[in-house]
Amino acid sequence: MAERLFVFDTTLRDGEQVPGCQLNTIEKIEVARTLEALGVDVIEAGFPISSPGDFNSVREISKAVTWPTICALTRSVEKDIEVAADALKYAKSKRIHTGIGVSHYHIKYKLKSTPEKIIERAVAAVKYAKSFVEQVEFYAEDAGRAENEYLARVIESVIAAGATVVNIPDTTGYCLPYEYGAKIKYLIENVSNIHKAIISTHCHNDLGMATANTLAGVLNGARQVEVTINGIGERAGNTSLEEVAMALKCHKHLGIDTNINSKKIIEASRMVSNLMNMPVQPNKAIVGRNAFAHSSGIHQDGVLKHRENYEIIDPKDIGLEDSAIVLTARSGRAALKHRLELLGYVFEQEELDKVYEEFLKLADSKKDIRDEDLLQLAGDTTGQNSMNKIKLKKLQVLSGTLISTAVVVIEVGGEELTATATGNGPVDAAVAAIKSLINRKVIIQEFLIQAITKGSNDVGRVHIQLLQEDSNIMVHGFSANTDIVRAAVEAFIDGINKMAGKED
Ligand code: KIV
Ligand code: ZN
Repeated sequence: MAERLFVFDTTLRDGEQVPGCQLNTIEKIEVARTLEALGVDVIEAGFPISSPGDFNSVREISKAVTWPTICALTRSVEKDIEVAADALKYAKSKRIHTGIGVSHYHIKYKLKSTPEKIIERAVAAVKYAKSFVEQVEFYAEDAGRAENEYLARVIESVIAAGATVVNIPDTTGYCLPYEYGAKIKYLIENVSNIHKAIISTHCHNDLGMATANTLAGVLNGARQVEVTINGIGERAGNTSLEEVAMALKCHKHLGIDTNINSKKIIEASRMVSNLMNMPVQPNKAIVGRNAFAHSSGIHQDGVLKHRENYEIIDPKDIGLEDSAIVLTARSGRAALKHRLELLGYVFEQEELDKVYEEFLKLADSKKDIRDEDLLQLAGDTTGQNSMNKIKLKKLQVLSGTLISTAVVVIEVGGEELTATATGNGPVDAAVAAIKSLINRKVIIQEFLIQAITKGSNDVGRVHIQLLQEDSNIMVHGFSANTDIVRAAVEAFIDGINKMAGKED
């Protein structure tokens, strides 16, 4: 049976320290609930002494969350500890996280103290915290640059004082994986009471080593990891939760498991990114936009033949629907065929060759080949009768808090038709008007609006899935426009035209 690794999430504390990422209490509760659903064991909810807002957030999160332990940060200062204990009053399971700097730099230049006095302060803080709560975690700040021998003395003293978890932060992201792993091993071998506490990792990413260092710590005996969603945090960030969870899932032979429900990773990543206004870099491991996007012909062909040829993680395991086959000038026929099939177009080899030639010409002049472009290519070669197509001529919407009204003018076979309708939004009203002009029972099954932030125009792209009730014909409609109501109406019309094309 796999050994259990506890996940301590500090998105709401170390993550929230990032300039511009501050959340209000309601947003923090939303993140905390998402972390709970994700399966984290401990949520570090804030640093209560730092502001009334932080105090209030820790208190409200304590009420809102059911089973994870709620943790509050303090310095080795009595007032901090009292305020933290008060903020944690309503938590079902609570922890105070107290600590002090232990590296030469911190002792001499930050705290202007001596190694012995630091041990005294650390012990006093742990004892004081222990008078309020059972779970006391001690952080040895800048342990990454501290001498192992001194660090071992600090850790032994705080465990003797009652610390249940000892956190060994690589505060400045200085360590190399073998050094950090050796540090944890040293503590296990040289701290006589180490079996009475859980060792925790807390790694920063200044040299891009946070995940590697965390895993090195775990492989050497740490049983708690301190992480953030998307790896956000001070400077270059903290260890990212998703990377550690998926590394352990991919390497089951290590025999170490977390309680993380990996299928919720994407949801959590997107929510944190949106709420904190922190875009995820496209090539970020696990959650970046390109993490499951294949663009070269060789890779695309390989992935389409057998996913595992080029993927070590099934995208569904992190809550994504599928990998993306991105079409570029380096893509091959297999990828084009696959993307066309997703849009409902199946071509024989000869026809496909023709479309592929056209595709290559387009891909040479355009970086990003979108579904609309493919539809255009597919339509050109299948020679669909454009006479019967519906065209949007005019659209006027009046939108307000009560009801929306739309006037739509469409052209069908050279004839202009006009209709007016109301709805519970401008799109609803416009769709109702079009429906009144066409003789089809159509249901909108999916409606997706995305902002396109790449490229020169910031436009909204609409994807719509339509089902014709009586024939069960299902189609996808697309459009993109800076006016999202217009894009939605055009996407609906695009879908209707495709339905007609399928009946021909
Ligand atoms: O990086 C660090 O040392 C910290 C401590 C406060 C745990 O964030
Ligand atoms: Zn930190």
